[in-house]
Amino acid sequence: GMGKKQVNICVVGLDNSGKTTILNQLKSPETRVSTVVPTVGLTVTNFSSPFINFNAFDMSGQSKYRNLWESYYSSSEGVMFVVDSADRLRMSVARDELWLLLDHKDLANRKIPLLVLANKMDEKDALSSAEISTSLGLDLIRGRPWHIACTCALTGAGLTAALEWLSTNIK
Ligand code: GTP
Ligand code: MG
Repeated sequence: GMGKKQVNICVVGLDNSGKTTILNQLKSPETRVSTVVPTVGLTVTNFSSPFINFNAFDMSGQSKYRNLWESYYSSSEGVMFVVDSADRLRMSVARDELWLLLDHKDLANRKIPLLVLANKMDEKDALSSAEISTSLGLDLIRGRPWHIACTCALTGAGLTAALEWLSTNIK
């Protein structure tokens, strides 16, 4: 029969926001790793939703590696931008990085979806998704579908619904 659609996505956001932990949760239990370590450069990883096999570019968020992100924009069909909801001090850095991405020549004129994951919602100091949306300037986004979802990568809370949104909005 028909194979599942294969889709590349770019997973970005500041270091320590939880990108690799999220991707690990999205994998089938047999293929999960027991310990997540900070990503060096990038890692390519796979997971699936009911209709799509995702090939994810799990980028390092450390400042010295952020210049690698742009190399993967042109081959991606969607972007996942992960935010540590409790990292109030660096919310403006996250905003700057998000807007560099949105204004990048390889993304600015492509209507591919942006999924923002407000991760670490379990932390007691976490900002709400409305506060994060305002801090990042999501209301200023034009020309592409976007969505913000609250997640906790440690339990997987919010991930299935968020992935469903992405699956529905990928062309
Ligand atoms: P880089 O690879 O350095 O860019 O970081 P990353 O965004 O991949 O973060 P990573 O997944 O390595 O997680 C960083 C730390 O945050 C780890 O100690 C995780 O266990 C922790 N973490 C991830 N998600 C959550 C969450 O939802 N809640 C809490 N409390 N901790 C989390
Ligand atoms: Mg990582």
